[in-house]
Amino acid sequence: MAFGVYIHIPYCLQICTYCDFSKYELGKILPPAQYVDLVRQEIRTRASNLSKPSAGLDTVYFGGGTPSLLEPELILSLLRELDNAGLHRQPGAEVTIEINPGTVDQDKLDAYLAMGINRFSVGAQSFNERLLKIGGRKHSVEETVASLELLHTRGVNYSFDLLFAMPTQTLSEVQDDVRRALQFGPSHLSAYCLTVAEGHPLSKGRAPDEEQVEMFENIESELAAGGLDRYEISNFARPGVQSRHNLLYWTDQSYWGLGVSSHSYFRQTPWGMRLWNPPSIKEYIRQIERSPGADTWDFQKNLPPAQVEVLHANQALTDYCHTFLRRWAGIDARALRLKFGDLIAAQVQSRIETLLKRGWLESTETGWRLSPEGRLVANAIFEELTFLPEDLAATAPKGSRNLLAPC
Ligand SMILES: C[S@@+](CC[C@H](N)C(=O)[O-])C[C@H]1O[C@@H](n2cnc3c(N)ncnc32)[C@H](O)[C@@H]1O
Ligand code: SF4
Repeated sequence: MAFGVYIHIPYCLQICTYCDFSKYELGKILPPAQYVDLVRQEIRTRASNLSKPSAGLDTVYFGGGTPSLLEPELILSLLRELDNAGLHRQPGAEVTIEINPGTVDQDKLDAYLAMGINRFSVGAQSFNERLLKIGGRKHSVEETVASLELLHTRGVNYSFDLLFAMPTQTLSEVQDDVRRALQFGPSHLSAYCLTVAEGHPLSKGRAPDEEQVEMFENIESELAAGGLDRYEISNFARPGVQSRHNLLYWTDQSYWGLGVSSHSYFRQTPWGMRLWNPPSIKEYIRQIERSPGADTWDFQKNLPPAQVEVLHANQALTDYCHTFLRRWAGIDARALRLKFGDLIAAQVQSRIETLLKRGWLESTETGWRLSPEGRLVANAIFEELTFLPEDLAATAPKGSRNLLAPC
């Protein structure tokens, strides 16, 4: 079983109006060094309560916010703290940091590489100056190009974040962004369709839904021609360099989230447990500062009940179906049966039969995946594969061990 660590760094140079992540403008909250001290305290206090992966960490991911705003020494101090807590990276572990254009130079990149960071996720978004302005981004196209040239010249493994369906953006501008991104040789690209609530200033002037679908199809074909295959709803990669960290989220593996707003999931008997830190920095500081010592800290006892969810079978099954189906590889029927038992697997299969008949899913050699038509209605499929407690009650005859099978 794989195990990864996510560390949230909430600082940004600007606040993009469309962003829903936990982030604060640099200078508006405690200085980064103090925040990092809190996260180190979180590691020291809570790691003692973790069952640590014997093979070591498969992945570490510094996400944000903009982690590349921090001095590299601060990032290094977090890796050291993980080591001190017995959370060593296994040889060949994937270590990613999100970087924004204009925040990394040659020296910083060298420092990252020296500390073992081997994957970079670049928040480039677009090569179009007008669209960057509309999104409220602070970096220029020139800075994006300079950052990408730096990464490309050094031959490092990096991913490109592309934002599309921005107000006023045309299909040919999306194509232009993808083609320019490919010129810098990314090994991975995440393409996100702008998501904003109705009434948000950026909800106006956008291409209609059918054209947004066309944009996505175009991104897919341009990237496929450039050697990057779609392996998840929003993610594309060259063979062998899919994001190992994100795959943890989509394949029922454990991950520990550290820092403000981070989420964790631990596989444990019977159905797993989800935990999260508060999204507000004030509350995060309060909780970490009031933590009891490492010898007494306990996830279930010391986190407020609203931040802990011990999963029931129906929730675990729902999560399992949704996350596995996000990947083009889909659900493996045998693995599903192994985890949930024959009775529950049969119940899932009967819903899947309906979706196969509707043309929304298709069979693979080992199970099922979204069909091309299903990819356009993924949310409706996820709704069909949402299980309530009463849905599974019928699958648990008295004395059945199915609902208690370990994960
Ligand atoms: C949390 S951000 C962190 C990366 C970095 N701070 C940046 O913005 O460049 C990760 C990615 O999420 C995407 N994103 C953020 N808000 C979004 C939204 N409302 N709709 C779609 N994608 C969004 C952006 O493409 C961004 O690169
Ligand atoms: S830079 Fe990234 S994390 Fe920061 S506000 Fe903008 S989208 Fe959000």
